[in-house]
Amino acid sequence: MTEAKAFYVTTPIYYVNDAPHIGHAYTTMVGDVLTRWHRMRGESVWYLTGTDEHGQKVEAAAAANGVAPQAWVDKLVADKWLPVLQTIDVANDDFIRTTEPRHTDRVQRFMERMHEQGWFYLGSYEGPYCVGCEEFKLPDDLVDGEGENAGKKCCAIHSRPVQTLDESNWFFKLSEFRDRLIAHYESNPQALQPQSAYNEVMSFLRGELKDLSISRSTFDWGIPLPWDPAHVIYVWFDALLNYATAVGLGDTDEPGARKFARTWPADVHLVGKDILRFHAVIWPAMLMAAGLPLPKTVFAHGWLLVGGEKMSKSKLTGIAPSQIVDTFGSDAFRYYFLRAIAFGSDGSFSWEDMAARYTNELANGLGNLASRATAMVDRYFGGVLPPADPHEPEVQLANHWRATTAAADAAVDRFEFATALAATKEFVDALNLYLTEQEPWKTAKAQTDDAMHRVGTVLNTVCEGLRGLCVLLHPVMPKATQALWRDLGAQNALGPLDEQRIDRAGQWPVLPAGTTVTKGEVLFPRLADEE
Ligand code: MSP
Repeated sequence: MTEAKAFYVTTPIYYVNDAPHIGHAYTTMVGDVLTRWHRMRGESVWYLTGTDEHGQKVEAAAAANGVAPQAWVDKLVADKWLPVLQTIDVANDDFIRTTEPRHTDRVQRFMERMHEQGWFYLGSYEGPYCVGCEEFKLPDDLVDGEGENAGKKCCAIHSRPVQTLDESNWFFKLSEFRDRLIAHYESNPQALQPQSAYNEVMSFLRGELKDLSISRSTFDWGIPLPWDPAHVIYVWFDALLNYATAVGLGDTDEPGARKFARTWPADVHLVGKDILRFHAVIWPAMLMAAGLPLPKTVFAHGWLLVGGEKMSKSKLTGIAPSQIVDTFGSDAFRYYFLRAIAFGSDGSFSWEDMAARYTNELANGLGNLASRATAMVDRYFGGVLPPADPHEPEVQLANHWRATTAAADAAVDRFEFATALAATKEFVDALNLYLTEQEPWKTAKAQTDDAMHRVGTVLNTVCEGLRGLCVLLHPVMPKATQALWRDLGAQNALGPLDEQRIDRAGQWPVLPAGTTVTKGEVLFPRLADEE
């Protein structure tokens, strides 16, 4: 029996030269949302993240702190990188570290085979190298330095002078893949998203593609080349392979071979736009050389900016994820970055904008709606959900909901999370407006059967809307939706929230009358005054 292939999502593996900032947490959070979304469509999903631990940059950070590289990365991963997953509520399936034997062994085996097949040759590299990017730079990539770097050629991303290398290296025959890569992307335009990423890579490929240095011989923090151990494998060659080594690359025995067969190729590599070329040119060429299937999609997202520049620890503009989560909670962190920044574009983070959206859309929007509705079911119906007798306004809301689920699901397929959340926000607004216009608290004053019948319909309708919102928003805000799901009595009536199906969330009504509704804790507490 063949097993269904898992939908395989990855993040870049992060350099452990320093602690994570919200730029890193951003990608990891998006991967988690995508994972949960696909899982709630009934798909089997595998979500990998991890750390990139070799190379000059990490070695230099360890040296600057007076510790051996392995001790440095062990401590930073344990103290900073693993805890951030909890901070932002990410449920990854695996976490790969490039210093683990399961990675290094498979990388060496892969390199050995590629070498036997003649893909590498010994040469020498003379030219610029940016340690920040860990990249052999082309003249066009460099900018003139300013201030203390005046007169020097600098990396455009890190604004710091590049090193000039002159060393003996092994090279990969990357240039041989240019035409195949172009043909691949021409016939698979969805493989590079968004469109700007596609255009950038195609214009790069239409220029000259040079062979690539894949080893370094002037320092030793890396995986030795099996046939020439005086060289360590170039950190990007080592790092890119993580996506495949983590799922059993090259294994011929069970369970590695089985795992690889049901996971590879990746469905989505989420990457920042600064590392697009590595993923869109070098990585597929490596896979082509090895005769392996190519990833379905590489999606390049934008940067979180501070003062118009990429947020970075080296420029001292990094904000730790916990700084935001401590104030707003992990759900709001996740919601805000998906809602406020179009995925694929750059976006500036500001505390003011975050606080405004939190207050308007979460505390006063969804949170207030939930607490009003559950409090009224408690007050007028003793906490038992009344039945509905739908009329025109209720039918309209049901139709609106169907359109919302269809729009959101389609938007997620296009990685347009902001569009999906705009749709759910509009629906929250529609429910709030409905409640305000129907004024069930006024109708209830009459206390007649007819009046209470109508009040019941209104409250049932709002609770049904909240039921749907819990399902659709669960991948984005796992904690608040779970709390609300219980408060609605849906946990008992319908089963666990993460087992609900997003592809069927448009059905209405689903929540049966008679569930026990409780006015639970406030989902999104109001922010304390600044003073
Ligand atoms: N180790 C490599 C990736 C290897 S993947 C085989 C690397 N690491 S990194 O730590 O420098 O960056 C990891 C990711 O974080 C990249 O996708 C990068 O775009 C992202 N970000 C770093 N700063 C960022 C922002 N300010 N905003 C958004 N993403 C940012 O590159």
